[in-house]
Amino acid sequence: MDVLTDKDVTGLLEWYRANRRTLPWRDTDDPYDVLLSEVMLQQTRVEAVIEYFKRFKREVPDIAALAQIDDEKLMRLWEGLGYYSRARNLKRCAIQITEEYNGKIPCDHEKLLSLTGIGPYSAGAIASIGFDLPYPAVDGNVLRVMARYLGIKEDIRSEEVKRRVTEVIGRHYDASVSHEKGHYRDLTQAFMELGALVCIPNGKPLCEGCPWRENCFACIEDLTDRIPYRSHEKKRKTVERTVLIIRYEDSFLIRKRPEKGLLAGMYEFIGLEEKADEDEVRKYLEERDFKVSEIHSIEDARHIFSHVEWQMRGYEIILEEKNKLKENEIWATGEELQGYALPSAFRTYIDRYGLRKKK
Ligand code: ADE
Repeated sequence: MDVLTDKDVTGLLEWYRANRRTLPWRDTDDPYDVLLSEVMLQQTRVEAVIEYFKRFKREVPDIAALAQIDDEKLMRLWEGLGYYSRARNLKRCAIQITEEYNGKIPCDHEKLLSLTGIGPYSAGAIASIGFDLPYPAVDGNVLRVMARYLGIKEDIRSEEVKRRVTEVIGRHYDASVSHEKGHYRDLTQAFMELGALVCIPNGKPLCEGCPWRENCFACIEDLTDRIPYRSHEKKRKTVERTVLIIRYEDSFLIRKRPEKGLLAGMYEFIGLEEKADEDEVRKYLEERDFKVSEIHSIEDARHIFSHVEWQMRGYEIILEEKNKLKENEIWATGEELQGYALPSAFRTYIDRYGLRKKK
């Protein structure tokens, strides 16, 4: 049977307390910090989250403020982090907490699980890190660490492996109740930190610095290059698009995307399906009665989402005059664009025109 020994748990906690990174959401007693950071950290690197977290906390300090936030402001604060449905769910979650729990994040695993956008991982993380309760939170880092420690050779992405790892940690929690303050808060983060600093996701793990090196299956058997195992990755769908940077004097034409689907409700440059050649672009512009003064081919760009890759061909179009817009379109100067959420899928073009101030 898979077992996590007391000695290894103690070693892990000691290692964590001596080696952990200082992060803005650590060592806080405020579960809001944990909720916010955990949602931001889903599928996003710690280094990328730090500044977003600090800014979000400054502008939206608590659940009450989050429940009332204006959607455009929410998107602006999230812009560049990606996976924007997380932000919308976070607001829904805050509204639910306000309406059902009097504005206080519930200190109860089942209730946490009932909140919008909170699945088993986040509920475990908020319960343990936010409230110091004995619940496992198994993310990609924890899966990798535990798969190596236990010698799990099945596909790391399978539900069965996640269930097995959650069960092993849960069993340890059930068998060894700790009354030490901060025990579960630290332990949950210790698993993650070991995955981030020692049992790293890319490249060779740094086993010499690992508190588990004497008891880790993959280290002892020299199998760290085979575990975690992943069966062949599914190929991402490729979508070709044309991006039109339509300008008149110092203004850019942008439009709001539909409220549903990829990058819902965010802003973008005008786009055409597939990679259009210059004649096709001219035809589109004529159909819309744009008076074109210049048209240039500019950089191609690429953006990878979780399931789709956009391959973009770019054109810059300078107009002689502004003409009638569709309902979801607007003109914005570079300065005014600061107020609209333009996703980083367009980074190549945003950078080309210096359209983003450093945050
Ligand atoms: N990844 C997910 N949650 C984390 C946390 N609390 N600290 C560091 N990395 C994390």
